[in-house]
Amino acid sequence: MNIKYIIGLFILIINNSYANNMQIEQNLSLTLAKKNACLGCHAIDRKVVGPSFSDIAKRYNYTQDPIIIQALSYKVQKGGGGSWGVVPMPANAINSQDAKAIISWIMTIKNKK
Ligand code: HEC
Repeated sequence: MNIKYIIGLFILIINNSYANNMQIEQNLSLTLAKKNACLGCHAIDRKVVGPSFSDIAKRYNYTQDPIIIQALSYKVQKGGGGSWGVVPMPANAINSQDAKAIISWIMTIKNKK
């Protein structure tokens, strides 16, 4: 076994576990979104009652800015409207930590179309 091979293998393993962690985090957020009934009104890539998650991510330019995430989390908790159309979002019984985790995940969603 030469050294290049060993380094290559090492990088492969690191990359893999990084990808797996991302996957696990994304699954956790999806589970949270399901648990909190967000998916009753939102879908990943099409409008339902509320805008699609991919449209939301696009509008906010895939931001991870904590101030924007905080503001959206507040809106998810308290409800509100006027940004996407005439139908407002009702208040959701969710804590801010979970809301922020879901929103941060939403911001990573790109439409595959
Ligand atoms: C009863 C339907 C309904 C449920 C349940 C719901 N939403 Fe919404 N959501 C909406 C509607 C309608 C809008 C558009 C509001 C507007 O025009 O400002 C919206 C908007 C949003 C936005 C964008 C807000 C903005 O100002 O751009 C986010 C983020 C969001 N929802 C996340 C969530 C999350 C996370 C959950 C679950 C905890 C959730 N929603 C549950 C209907 C819903």
